[in-house]
Amino acid sequence: MAVTAEAAGALLGVYKQPDFRIVKGEGAWLWDDHGRRYLDFTMGIAVNALGHASPVVTGAVREALDSGLIHTSNLFRTGPGEELAEALVSHSFPGSVFFCNSGAEANEAAFKFARRWAGTTGDSGRHEFVAFRGAFHGRLFGTLAATDRPSYQEPFLPLMPGVRFAEAENLESVRSVVSERTAAVIIEPIQGEGGIRSVSASFLSQLRAFCDEIGAALIFDEIQCGLGRTGHLFAFQEAGITPDILTLAKPLGGGFPMGAVIMAPHIAETLHPGDHGTTFGGGPLVSSVALAVLRTITGPGFLETVRARAAYLDAGLQRIAREHTEVTGVRGRGLIRGLALAGPVADVVGAARERGLLLVGAGADVVRFLPPLNVTEEEVDIALDAFIDALPSVKATPA
Ligand SMILES: Cc1ncc(COP(=O)(O)O)c(C=O)c1O
Repeated sequence: MAVTAEAAGALLGVYKQPDFRIVKGEGAWLWDDHGRRYLDFTMGIAVNALGHASPVVTGAVREALDSGLIHTSNLFRTGPGEELAEALVSHSFPGSVFFCNSGAEANEAAFKFARRWAGTTGDSGRHEFVAFRGAFHGRLFGTLAATDRPSYQEPFLPLMPGVRFAEAENLESVRSVVSERTAAVIIEPIQGEGGIRSVSASFLSQLRAFCDEIGAALIFDEIQCGLGRTGHLFAFQEAGITPDILTLAKPLGGGFPMGAVIMAPHIAETLHPGDHGTTFGGGPLVSSVALAVLRTITGPGFLETVRARAAYLDAGLQRIAREHTEVTGVRGRGLIRGLALAGPVADVVGAARERGLLLVGAGADVVRFLPPLNVTEEEVDIALDAFIDALPSVKATPA
């Protein structure tokens, strides 16, 4: 049965959704309740890294269910969470891991951990954060304060105080907003929601050195771009620097809600029993699935293939940008890509959907391409053909 706005009525109306229901997924494809098939280049907003109904995920779920252990809470130790923490640390940097249930929760925890480490003693202590113009870190009161979207913030003021915004690629602008009250600087190495903007490795290195100079923690939010999407496991590794705190979520749980905060020992050693917690974080079922996802992404040849598919997608996007005036720029890298458009993104997202391609915007005028990490060249071709067909729907914004 097709849904209408009224039929969806018991759900809170905070999402704009098309008029059909998704009923099935497999690999890069989704089917709706009218039997229509869509090539999904949203992947649950960068969540389903291995595609829909990945045997890696379904197999891990079945195995976890067979063990009889779904949830125990953090009152007790369980194996999968401990194993996953070990694996994450061994693939990132030495330290400790805190598990939670979403990206926003991971960043909220990162803020708390940074303050704990900074030795906050109230309003005059080191409790402030620096975030960047265009940033998106979540929609809770702390993370929303660090999210540069006035329209998301204004209905919910007051938010967590003490967040200052700086310009990426401009260390002077960072210098102008820090003070003896700064606890940490948070940055997405590739801004996702803010329009798929890559931050240069040189700016990230400068930021690392600057945080060391002023004694602030450096937090990398790799919730959208981390875990293989750039063609490398983590974007910080491409920049050749190590943050003090790394936040992850989206693809980690294979479609189950999971976030993680990885922190260096100097942060971890300031946190003690009772300082933070969550009922569900790092439960055995979701951790087993995440372990299977992580092992796949770090397995032989996987990231090389991601890089090859990314190069193939890149060639297609560059060609489209050369040949179509509706496209004004190509953004991002790996399999987190955006095309800047001469007009609002909503029209082209709708037109692409009518042509069987699911895309999502990133800001007002950037369309995002987030295929599964195991997308095929043929699927890339189908997506780009459908996108080209949809492009005339872009109505140029008057200058
Ligand atoms: C970079 C980044 N950080 C944080 C978040 C918030 O994650 P969640 O929606 O799981 O709370 C998002 C979500 O899009 C994100 O892209």
